[in-house]
Amino acid sequence: MARYITTPIYYVNDRPHIGHAYTSVAADAMARWWRLAGEEVFFLTGTDEHGQKVERAARDAGEEPQAFTDRMSRAFRDLTVTMGLSNSAFIRTTEPRHRAACQALWKALAEAGHIYLGHYEGWYAVRDEAFYSEEELTERDGVKYAPTGAPVAWVKEPSYFFRLSAFRDKLLDFYEKHPDFILPETRRNEVIAFVKGDLRDLSISRTSFAWGVPVPGDPGHVMYVWLDALTNYISALGYPDDPQGLWRFWPADLHMVGKDILRFHAIYWPAFLMGAGLAPPRRIFAHGWWTNEGQKISKSLGNVIDPVALVEEFGLDPVRYFLLREVPFGQDGDFSRKALINRLNGELADSLGNLANRSLSLIQRNCDGRLPAPAEPIEAGFCAQLAALPAEVAQLMDRQAFDQALAAIFAAIREGNGFITRQAPWALKKTDPARMAAVLRQLHDALRLFATLLSPFMPGSMARLLDQLGVPEGERDLAALARPLPEGLPLPPPAPLFRKIEA
Ligand code: MSP
Repeated sequence: MARYITTPIYYVNDRPHIGHAYTSVAADAMARWWRLAGEEVFFLTGTDEHGQKVERAARDAGEEPQAFTDRMSRAFRDLTVTMGLSNSAFIRTTEPRHRAACQALWKALAEAGHIYLGHYEGWYAVRDEAFYSEEELTERDGVKYAPTGAPVAWVKEPSYFFRLSAFRDKLLDFYEKHPDFILPETRRNEVIAFVKGDLRDLSISRTSFAWGVPVPGDPGHVMYVWLDALTNYISALGYPDDPQGLWRFWPADLHMVGKDILRFHAIYWPAFLMGAGLAPPRRIFAHGWWTNEGQKISKSLGNVIDPVALVEEFGLDPVRYFLLREVPFGQDGDFSRKALINRLNGELADSLGNLANRSLSLIQRNCDGRLPAPAEPIEAGFCAQLAALPAEVAQLMDRQAFDQALAAIFAAIREGNGFITRQAPWALKKTDPARMAAVLRQLHDALRLFATLLSPFMPGSMARLLDQLGVPEGERDLAALARPLPEGLPLPPPAPLFRKIEA
């Protein structure tokens, strides 16, 4: 089956931080999981380069917007490498193909009668690139703020509007028919409440600045940056034509987003698509936000976490693991060095690393470095847990419950450590070599299972573990687990997978 998954496209006003890395790694784990399950995956990420916020950042940097965005976009492209992303493409909203797609979508909406010209008068937060109603604001020291904490300013200008209010019932009907369209469920309820409230028509063009996609037939207007940005999900597939045969990936299976940008994805985006006669995406997952050692992360507090520095210090896979294991996916969480070090030392190095090292060293020493033959199960309970694991993990991954999937795998790894201690294969060499071989074979099979299931989360280190386990390159997906490796397979000498960190 064809699967399509996206990250948000990131604003290039600033350098990448932990929030960007988080959304991207979550999407990457999902993309890799689907590939592991044999699906054909298109995984998109990229940069959001138009609008007032980026224009101002360019001006502050003393650069032309295009030169500025070229430079800043590169940092996000580099981040895909730093974080080990397996994205199929990288889209920039300043690309001609994207501009053409935006204008085509606009024309489709206009032809269907969903756009009209009027005047916008109201509050706008450049930081969020969002309009707010008076009731949503709070005032401090004479400045009004959006619920996100962004300051707002009064805007009054001619504007095109999208008849969002006309989509109210269609949207509610869509949410009703697709109960898993918005996850987690608490967020779904918020969105439904918002749509049931006073859903007003949406201002979709601006005239007070020029850094954007010109409105077809009225170039004094540039498109509202969110209409422009959301369109990336289809412009990357070649909309409105299908030059590369990618349209078969639409509708997207999953737009991975942070909770702050759910409204745009779960309300505006499906309404635009419905208006243009296109299918809405299948799911929007809104993840939570990180704090840093208990504090809100912000530039003014100077506590922004640089993902590149983090990966340099701890290694990529421990960071990926921590981000997806530490916090129930969908909830807010706190980043702390202590918590990261605990997970790295306790779970990766001690639990998984030691199990692999002990088992593989015993095979090396006691079996001439060759894989023992498959044997009758030694402990029925442990075997049953292993047999049930892939389906359990698959079910959790279907709902993006990454933390629970990892918890289930690590529960089995802990059992594996219990198994090796109970069976003490090192003591069986003289007394019962056949049983020793059977125990070691069972451990090898378990490690292969763990490494395979963990590979979407920690691709690099699990590839190394699979190398050490002698699993051929083409035998590393879920289906391959059903094909036992041959007896006598030579195994390379084991090497430690994770380096412990002194706290
Ligand atoms: N450009 C828009 C998205 C357009 S998609 C059509 C945008 N960009 S962004 O650069 O601000 O990046 C947003 C992503 O980073 C969001 O998913 C957001 O939730 C995430 N995060 C930003 N700070 C975060 C934390 N402190 N914690 C977790 N994620 C956070 O919005």
